[in-house]
Amino acid sequence: MKKIVVNLKQKRYPVYLGCSISKIGELLKEHTCGVRVVVITDKNVGQLYSERIRTILINCEKKVKVVEIKPGEQSKTIKTVYDIIKECSLFGLDRSDIIIALGGGVVCDIAGFVASIYLRGIRFISIPTSLLAQVDASVGGKTGINLPWGKNLVGTFYQPYFVIMDFSTFDTLPKKEISQGIAEVIKYAVIRSKTLFNLLMDIDPSQIEKYIDTIVYECIVIKKKVVEADEQEKKGIREILNFGHTIGHAIEINSKRLNHGESISLGMIAETFLSMKKGYCSEVLFNDVKSLVKKFSLPFKTDIDVKKVADTLVYDKKVKMGKIRFVLPLRVGAVKTGVEISPEEVISTWGDWQ
Ligand code: GLY
Repeated sequence: MKKIVVNLKQKRYPVYLGCSISKIGELLKEHTCGVRVVVITDKNVGQLYSERIRTILINCEKKVKVVEIKPGEQSKTIKTVYDIIKECSLFGLDRSDIIIALGGGVVCDIAGFVASIYLRGIRFISIPTSLLAQVDASVGGKTGINLPWGKNLVGTFYQPYFVIMDFSTFDTLPKKEISQGIAEVIKYAVIRSKTLFNLLMDIDPSQIEKYIDTIVYECIVIKKKVVEADEQEKKGIREILNFGHTIGHAIEINSKRLNHGESISLGMIAETFLSMKKGYCSEVLFNDVKSLVKKFSLPFKTDIDVKKVADTLVYDKKVKMGKIRFVLPLRVGAVKTGVEISPEEVISTWGDWQ
């Protein structure tokens, strides 16, 4: 097991990597908490782990309530948040108690958001069970829900109490879920790590499990540094984590089929293409990003209506004074933030990168 500590002005918290979920009991004794625990999960993940966790917590003399939401992005609504809060309140969860987020990115985003607003904030522990949630959603404190016209438009910055990453949870993940996590890994490699980029270029995707602990570790080290430097995305540093997400989010919200990882893969290719067009990066980088996406079975072209995508771009969270601002790669490990690009330019280049 490895431990990485995220050090922020108001808070420091540990991320335990390669730590069995079964350790939750010991860790709860180490980190003080109250009597009640609400475990927020979804039906798929709940089936696999919630009884195990419930038993461990009951053995630690906790009173436990498991709240299961419907799996998938459609659950990131204010209605789901209200339903969970109602369960927490009726269960008597108080400010000394704990919420546990057990699941993928959607569960981590919603549970963190609930924890941040319930009783004006109670502690939550993140147990991300997907690769995507481990490398990105569970660390750094971004929580939130969607509005019908845009992703993550309501939310808070609210850091977890601690994070447990059990790599064995990947054993039951469908291949498509691993691929969607790899999309975020490609993002980290492009924005900050030649080592990670070269590793991804070299490895055989069918052997990915051999490298998973190294990959998660590298991503969390990058995320820790970025979040420590700019916790609330106010200094233009954390913005780099949005590479591929400006177009990616707009694709995701307009698509019924594409998941987050698939959408940001398309976003990374499109945004690297825009960067190349503007003379910021080489054609080699564009080709490499596209071939990495292909190599890990992620989509590299789409028939989505680009007009709808362009209309959605104006709701991106980075928009300032009506201008859409992109994160564009310069070379492996370096990006430029705040590049203004119009929806028309996105539309006019759409066919060229596919
Ligand atoms: N997922 C992007 C961030 O945490 O800033």
